[in-house]
Amino acid sequence: MAKKESHQIDSMDKSIENIDDKMKKSELHKFFISALKDIYYAEHALIDGLEKMQKSATTEELQDAFEDHQLQTKKHISRLEKVFTLLDEKADKKECEAIKGLIKEAEEIIKSTKDGSMTRDAALIIAAQKIEHYEIATYGGLVQLALTMEHEKVADLLEKTLSEEEETDDNLTEIAETLINFEAEEEN
Ligand SMILES: [Fe+2]
Ligand SMILES: [Fe+2]
Repeated sequence: MAKKESHQIDSMDKSIENIDDKMKKSELHKFFISALKDIYYAEHALIDGLEKMQKSATTEELQDAFEDHQLQTKKHISRLEKVFTLLDEKADKKECEAIKGLIKEAEEIIKSTKDGSMTRDAALIIAAQKIEHYEIATYGGLVQLALTMEHEKVADLLEKTLSEEEETDDNLTEIAETLINFEAEEEN
């Protein structure tokens, strides 16, 4: 079955989703591209944001979690670049005020908590989870839009990133609950 379908689209460039001029002019398609540019900016901003958070974290567990997620974030960027190619669009960044605000909040936490304290880590986890939730909301919505517009390959790529954001969020919850919050509470 799948073979037959692929035979039918043999004449088309398989690296590009089926996008015609009508689709390109649609408001929903324009919004979709604009939202992709927004999250593309956000992922770039997070490379630096996660670096700062990693350097400021107290425990090795949290430092490692931030480092791992920084590596994943690089993958998120290259997946988005593939998405732009599939949609026959240039990978551009659109400034995202929301992520700038969330990163600023994390920086303020670093300034207002003591170096080497568990309270710093407890607060940094919450800041990082706010960021993950922003990404989860974005990718969750974009996967659904991609499916609605029948961009299956795009949906698959975005779905992979969505799962990694969700895993990161769960991992942060676990670090907080098994280790950090308790010790932060004991701290003077
Ligand atoms: Fe991400
Ligand atoms: Fe993330």
